[in-house]
Amino acid sequence: MTNSDRTLYDEIKDFLEAEREVYGEFSIPKPDEANFPTTEPDKVEEEPVSYPLAESPSETELTLEEKLQACTTLDELRLLCEQAAELKTDLANTNLVFGVGNPQADLMLIGEAPGEQEDIKGEPFVGAAGRLLNKILEAIKFNREDVYIANILKHRPPGNRNPNAEECEASLPYLHRQIEIIQPKLILCLGKISGNTILGTDVTLKQMRSEKHQFRGVELFVTYHPAALLRNPQWKRPTWEDVKAVRKRYDELGGKP
Ligand code: URA
Repeated sequence: MTNSDRTLYDEIKDFLEAEREVYGEFSIPKPDEANFPTTEPDKVEEEPVSYPLAESPSETELTLEEKLQACTTLDELRLLCEQAAELKTDLANTNLVFGVGNPQADLMLIGEAPGEQEDIKGEPFVGAAGRLLNKILEAIKFNREDVYIANILKHRPPGNRNPNAEECEASLPYLHRQIEIIQPKLILCLGKISGNTILGTDVTLKQMRSEKHQFRGVELFVTYHPAALLRNPQWKRPTWEDVKAVRKRYDELGGKP
């Protein structure tokens, strides 16, 4: 018998003696005489309880692609762009410059990035380059309202510098969705950066101007950027040739009159 058994034994003995003193002699029945249940009680099958599991963020949060696909109108896409911090450049407090024009346009023009005037007005091509662009459009019998105008970037970069690779990468999925919603018959990229970014190439403007392109099944032309024409008026003639070709193809494809 160990010490602790001994202690327990003494405690029980003392307890029983004290009980006998109060209640008189009594005996302790053997387990099978006592009214103890001898078998295990029937087990009650417990219904499995299912607790609602906390959903992990990956199950509740949509991916950017899912959010973009959920946008079926330009208004919905604009709202998504307003909430998208990744579209901002490192210039603070800029306005969203989403795009402007006919949401069902058959011709979509794509520039680089908003400048100061565009940032103030929240509309692409409203400064000096924009005024020249309006004249180019008029020359091929389009009003600004007939076409849709957007940029690669939706916010102004500091000092009007060229968009960098990270900014283009962040902005492209939004622009791609914008193109998918508008479904133009033709795209005209304004300038080398616009053309190379959309086509995913790194070639000269001369090379892009001389070749036929497609972007996801949409025919695509590239010409000079209007701001470049302001600095280099000698490029107006080749630009005129380019945009005449755009108008011709637009009519051949049955673009809206
Ligand atoms: N240049 C661009 O590329 N886009 C504008 O909106 C304005 C100037």
